[in-house]
Amino acid sequence: MQDILTHIDAGVLTLTINRPDKKNSFTPAMYAAMAAGLEQAKTDPTIRVTVIQGDMTVFSAGNDIGDFLQRKPSSQESPALQASPVFDFLHAIAQHPKPIIAAVCGPAVGIGTTLLFHCDLVYAGDNAAFSMPFVNLGLCPEAASSLLVPQMMGYHRAAEALLLGEPFMAEAALEVGLVNRIVPPTEANAVAQAQARKLAAKPLESLVETKRLMKKGLMPQVLAQMAEEGASFARLLQEPAAKEAFTAFMEKRKPDFSKT
Ligand code: COA
Repeated sequence: MQDILTHIDAGVLTLTINRPDKKNSFTPAMYAAMAAGLEQAKTDPTIRVTVIQGDMTVFSAGNDIGDFLQRKPSSQESPALQASPVFDFLHAIAQHPKPIIAAVCGPAVGIGTTLLFHCDLVYAGDNAAFSMPFVNLGLCPEAASSLLVPQMMGYHRAAEALLLGEPFMAEAALEVGLVNRIVPPTEANAVAQAQARKLAAKPLESLVETKRLMKKGLMPQVLAQMAEEGASFARLLQEPAAKEAFTAFMEKRKPDFSKT
């Protein structure tokens, strides 16, 4: 079974995250598949809108923790995360010219939340739980979330989400503007599809130009922040605190940072 399912219908590309046994956590191959899907959506004139969805129980548990443990230290030849599938995906989604809609139910952890900042519309099941526990894993934010989260939520709520790594539910996400609407989990994917079809019926060039105009002011900052975050993230991945956090997760115990 494929971990990312791709389906095209009526001008809408749907990318379904489909690794339920590991709570839809992302492997490098899944980032590559997501980036390839977005590239196809960008160049194929018959695709007008992309939908990203999980199922009604889980959106994504973020990066695969086993993959984090196996990451090799970066070198001069392979600087930081810049050359990795995750970075290709983040660049693709941040700069995608056509509309992207997400349907989110259940846990949306790490990149499962931060990718939403690069979507145009987000529909959440009332069971959606967003979290960015980078600090709890000995890491730092990615996907320009250290820029976009404070901007969207205000600094103090961002600090709760990014320093404490506290989860927040659909209602709070609606209040800060991260999601457009809360719906029953059984309806989230269908609502996203219905909105996608509305967008797909509109003039594509106007959609693309409008999105470009809305995003252009912040785009240089977003790309610069992603690069800086990427370098820090790659360094922190190799530090003892992150190794302890990942090992603790795999061993199903609480991490002990007292010696890190
Ligand atoms: N990477 C790898 N495997 C993961 C995973 C991840 N990010 N998240 C969950 N899994 C695996 C679990 O190890 C478990 O595998 P097993 O059945 O072989 O033991 C399986 O998915 C089910 O996870 P479980 O924790 O039992 O499910 P849950 O419903 O109790 O909790 C989450 C769901 C998402 C809240 C929880 O799994 C979690 O916190 N995951 C880690 C999230 C994270 O820190 N991601 C990195 C962000 S940068």
